Amino acid sequence: MLKTAAAVARLGTESAFEVLARAKQLEAQGRDIINLGIGQPDFQTPEHIVEAAVKALRDGHHGYTPANGILPLREAVAEDLELRHRVRVDPNCIVAVPGGKVTMFFAVLMFGEAGAEILYPNPGFPIYESVINFSGAKAVPIPLREENGFAFSAEETLNLITPKTRLMIINSPANPTGGVTPKAEVETLVAGLAAHPDVAIMSDEIYGQMTYDGLEHVSLMSYPEIRDRLILLDGWSKTYAMTGWRMGFSVWPKPLYDKVRKLAVNAWSCVNAPSQFAGLAALTGPQDSVAAMVAEFDARRKIVVEELNKLPGVSCITPKGAFYAFPNVKGTGFKAKKLASRLLEEEGVAIIGGPDFGILGEGYVRLSYANSAENIRRAIGRMAGFLERNHNRGELTPTPDRPAAAAAGPRAR
Ligand SMILES: Cc1ncc(COP(=O)(O)O)c(C=O)c1O
Repeated sequence: MLKTAAAVARLGTESAFEVLARAKQLEAQGRDIINLGIGQPDFQTPEHIVEAAVKALRDGHHGYTPANGILPLREAVAEDLELRHRVRVDPNCIVAVPGGKVTMFFAVLMFGEAGAEILYPNPGFPIYESVINFSGAKAVPIPLREENGFAFSAEETLNLITPKTRLMIINSPANPTGGVTPKAEVETLVAGLAAHPDVAIMSDEIYGQMTYDGLEHVSLMSYPEIRDRLILLDGWSKTYAMTGWRMGFSVWPKPLYDKVRKLAVNAWSCVNAPSQFAGLAALTGPQDSVAAMVAEFDARRKIVVEELNKLPGVSCITPKGAFYAFPNVKGTGFKAKKLASRLLEEEGVAIIGGPDFGILGEGYVRLSYANSAENIRRAIGRMAGFLERNHNRGELTPTPDRPAAAAAGPRAR
């Protein structure tokens, strides 16, 4: 019998990948599956970015690069940050990483151990809780609530800090909820952090360029008073439709930089060279594809919200960022995961149950609107058929304010 480390048994997972695998299996059996499960843009990486990677290979960039990434790439990231957030960042504080996920792993490894506490959003990206548990630290959820538009409450977050707290993870615009934390709340948080100088912050801003209705994304990078303990997670995956290239970057405070470079050398030596050249082309080339993609997501967002609010027992607030809707399904009579799995098996609609994003996700499901408007309408049409046929057949008693009956009609929100 192999005896594996206890830490490995504490790892969680990202069920979007399991749902994707099951959806592919059903497709292979000839089923017509509409995938609103996975969080990746349904657009091609822009041509000039692909070309830059091909050229890099042809030009002979086949070897190792510095562990933190090639200097022109880090310089381009610094310029991009200056343009977007009006901050100057030393390229020697930037690390190219194989996907944004690695930044959270490294940030948690940097601070997490038995006896430490790490705050993380719940419902939130499932890997936060997974890697905190892996590290041996105590995972302390920061509740995100529907009534706040799933934005962080600065006061509630600050109140969770104890003498054991070493790291706080913030994510806005957020997965899975599409919540965006307003500027006033960010400022209250930053002001409150002055009383806790030993708490580091990791700000996951991977959806930073995806906000709607003219709402500004406020980067924690724009607050010099916390820069000496702020880790920024950002990258190319979502903004440039590059999820499979595995390209992300992080910005680290100077005192942590040598440590993170060591982690990089130990883990992967360097990000693959052609992807780095692709990332460079993405930042220095035309940005119109980003604007076009965000405009398309915005149009779909409106369709998703409108259609979901017509479903019996479902209500959906309007997400302000990213490309996810997180409707409340408490009135359907179904537990969220059960609803998601039955919709996949019986209707061929792949969505994710809210509890896959943490215990506070019960009563909600996540729909990714990274799919065509036509498919979104078809998927929600199938959900309508399912909910009308199965009304009150779930295992829950519908909550009185969210009747399961189809007769309840469209929700006002
Ligand atoms: C909030 C959040 N952070 C980070 C990531 C990881 O991105 P990457 O694919 O670049 O590792 C994701 C991906 O879904 C995400 O939703």
